[in-house]
Amino acid sequence: MEAISIGLLGLGTVGSGVVQIIENHQDKLMHQIGCPIKINKILVKSIDKPRSVEIKQELLTTNAEDVIENPEIDVVVEVMGGVEDTRKLLLQALRNKKHVVTANKDLMAVYGSELLTVASENGCDLFYEASVAGGIPILRSLTEGLASDRITKMMGIVNGTTNFILTKMSKEGSAYEEVLKEAQDLGFAEADPTSDVEGLDAARKMAILASLGFSMKIDLDDVKVKGITEITEDDLQYAKQLGYTMKLIGIAELEGNKVEVSVQPTLLADSHPLASVNDEFNAVYVYGEAVGETMFYGPGAGSLPTATSIVSDLVVVMKNMVLGVNGKNVVTPQYEKQLKAPNEVFSKYFLRLHVKDEVGVFANITTIFSGHGVSFEKILQLPNKEKGLAEIVLVTHNASLQDYEEILVQLRDLQAVHHIDSSYRVEGTGK
Ligand code: HSE
Repeated sequence: MEAISIGLLGLGTVGSGVVQIIENHQDKLMHQIGCPIKINKILVKSIDKPRSVEIKQELLTTNAEDVIENPEIDVVVEVMGGVEDTRKLLLQALRNKKHVVTANKDLMAVYGSELLTVASENGCDLFYEASVAGGIPILRSLTEGLASDRITKMMGIVNGTTNFILTKMSKEGSAYEEVLKEAQDLGFAEADPTSDVEGLDAARKMAILASLGFSMKIDLDDVKVKGITEITEDDLQYAKQLGYTMKLIGIAELEGNKVEVSVQPTLLADSHPLASVNDEFNAVYVYGEAVGETMFYGPGAGSLPTATSIVSDLVVVMKNMVLGVNGKNVVTPQYEKQLKAPNEVFSKYFLRLHVKDEVGVFANITTIFSGHGVSFEKILQLPNKEKGLAEIVLVTHNASLQDYEEILVQLRDLQAVHHIDSSYRVEGTGK
């Protein structure tokens, strides 16, 4: 092969990184593939916009057809984002027998299954390593590195923005709004950071991870999501006092044939390996029945880290081209999806509430918990901050989600409970 020709859809932060890596690593890439990589066309919104990389004007186009319908292009690299229009373009590219590499988690979490089927039908590769945890090669680790094992649990810090916010709030006492603004300025928050702070970005990544790790088609709607917007400074202080670190954690767990996938603020015991993943870094903890505990750590966003994953996908596509095996290793689900019911999801919980400072209140609360067979691991009763009220912080032993939700309903109905401040899932044992 003389050269492999690629077309880029998008030349923003990540697209510029792809151009840089292809240029700077040409020798290494050439050695691995056996021929050079040539960038043939790049779809941009505006030809004249100043760029962080030097690029010949004649490579730029504002017409997607110049990439998708271009007979010279072998591989389309999608780094422009968006869902509905992007889906149409990529389907068209695959039907035109072009391999696709994408970084688009929003797209893959919703239309991944359709796009992979069309890729396979057309003898094309479709890889998306950069869509989850940017620079960490986690998808290939699941599908190849751990291919021989049965993965039963994955826990991920897969959103850098929220990890940055929670780290700064916990360690430096910074205010939420101020740190969110900093994350936006540093460029790792989404254009609309709602999807970061409400947990949706992490949920998309967990749907992709769970689908690959458990070989089931997990849809975005299957992921239970709660974001970080309601976390207070008091919660962070109590967490610290009890030996926990607050993180936005995606959990995907398999028991028998049933799975549970969620994203929620979680109190992690300080001894848990994920508790020390700070700032904007990402990490995915994977438990396999044979291998035991593993953890993958690194940058979850950023131009060059994300581009590294994209260009590595390109290398695989190109090696497959040389071997003539494109479209033969598209990973499709092996098992029917079965989701756990709320009475099958078990966890410990942190609960903080204010009660009336009266005789017998504590007994009433414990009666509700014991009525559901749930006992306490830790209890703190704190001096009153509000007159006539007492603040109680407790951590339960394992309880089913169903029992725990029923307990919350009963507590809210209890006349002696003034209000429930907060409640979080707990992983591991704190102090
Ligand atoms: N907004 C995402 C994050 C970028 O904060 O992790 C990477 O997907």
